[in-house]
Amino acid sequence: MKMADFNKTTAISDGQELKKAGYKVPFGTVSITDKAKKLIDRSIDTKWVTKGAYVHEFEDKFAALFGVKHGIAVSSGTDADAIACAVLYDFGAKRWDEIIIPALTFVATGNAVLQAGFNPVFVDVKRETLNIDPDKIENAITPRTRAIMPVHLMGKPADMDKIMALAKKHKLHVIEDAAEAHGAEYKGKKIGAIGDMACFSLYAAHIVTTIEGGIVITDNDQMAEAARSLRNHGIDGKFRFRRIGFSAKMNEIEAAVGLGNLDIFYDILEKRRRNVRYLIKQFSKFEKYFWYLKEDPHEVLGPHAFSIILKPGLNFTKNEFVSYLETEGVDSRNLFYSIPTQTPSYEFMGHKLGDFPETEYCSDNGTHIGCHQDIELSQCDYAVETVAKFLKSKGHNV
Ligand SMILES: Cc1ncc(COP(=O)(O)O)c(C=O)c1O
Repeated sequence: MKMADFNKTTAISDGQELKKAGYKVPFGTVSITDKAKKLIDRSIDTKWVTKGAYVHEFEDKFAALFGVKHGIAVSSGTDADAIACAVLYDFGAKRWDEIIIPALTFVATGNAVLQAGFNPVFVDVKRETLNIDPDKIENAITPRTRAIMPVHLMGKPADMDKIMALAKKHKLHVIEDAAEAHGAEYKGKKIGAIGDMACFSLYAAHIVTTIEGGIVITDNDQMAEAARSLRNHGIDGKFRFRRIGFSAKMNEIEAAVGLGNLDIFYDILEKRRRNVRYLIKQFSKFEKYFWYLKEDPHEVLGPHAFSIILKPGLNFTKNEFVSYLETEGVDSRNLFYSIPTQTPSYEFMGHKLGDFPETEYCSDNGTHIGCHQDIELSQCDYAVETVAKFLKSKGHNV
């Protein structure tokens, strides 16, 4: 499959299509290949559109990418997270036991833990990595803790050695939220194949997409069986229901898009890596002003987007910076929020502003911009020049 096959992209529909059309550096993209179109037509012609052969093929091929035995395709990354949590009921967990997650992540991680009937226990992150601070995890472990769920934010691996060691010491499961990290590697190991289970989002803008969708992968047969049952109302056998399940199956049309993406997975990944490494190199001249996504020697990024965080003591605010990018056509998203203290729906959990200082700092001062497969180096240059122009307008000599 040639790169040209996925250069024809579709705008991501989140209510901002018209505005996106004007962006010079759009945040996300979705690749729908010619093969996917053929499979979609075939599935419509045969009227087999609910879960069938394409879903199975997609699951097998996706799991094989990570060298694990099982892939369980579901309707979203959030469902993948929730189902992986609910699998723990087959392993002795009780309702409202606890799962440790980072305070800084897309809100879906916290929602999924609650949807599965567990209490999320939040741990602050490190602003340099955006990932859960492994040195703060042990304090959060209680007799009710059942799992640690690190998130590999922006496609940068969490510190898995420390996390796995803690899990072993306290007999906890590890569920990797790899929603943003397809293809990332940590010390030679594939992200997604380190914990007991891993969950990926396949939403448009992610590295492998089915438009909407998600997948749980695991090497554990019993976990895989429970996850398969949970995605289908908790079914066990023919129309018998053993677990409190979800209605979260993937359909054939989504799987067809996913199969097309798997054919070009390494092309997508390489183009994203090229872009993100280029941005990292160019941003070194802005080191005084920003923390930005970096790739450390022990890891390989599976780049989702490029994060930029303002350092303290600057003569401009994040809002000024982001508004400037926006006006000049560089699309961006806030660097999430501290789920427990900056997300109004979580006020019920009783945390107060200041409880997660690093996370709150990242959210107050951070943004992220696109680095996807349809962005060319000239567009990366444009983003860098826009940042330089902004800094110059504030009297900085860059
Ligand atoms: C870290 C993280 N977890 C979970 C999800 C949820 O995935 P979805 O939007 O497919 O439900 C996302 C979505 O981007 C995410 O970034």
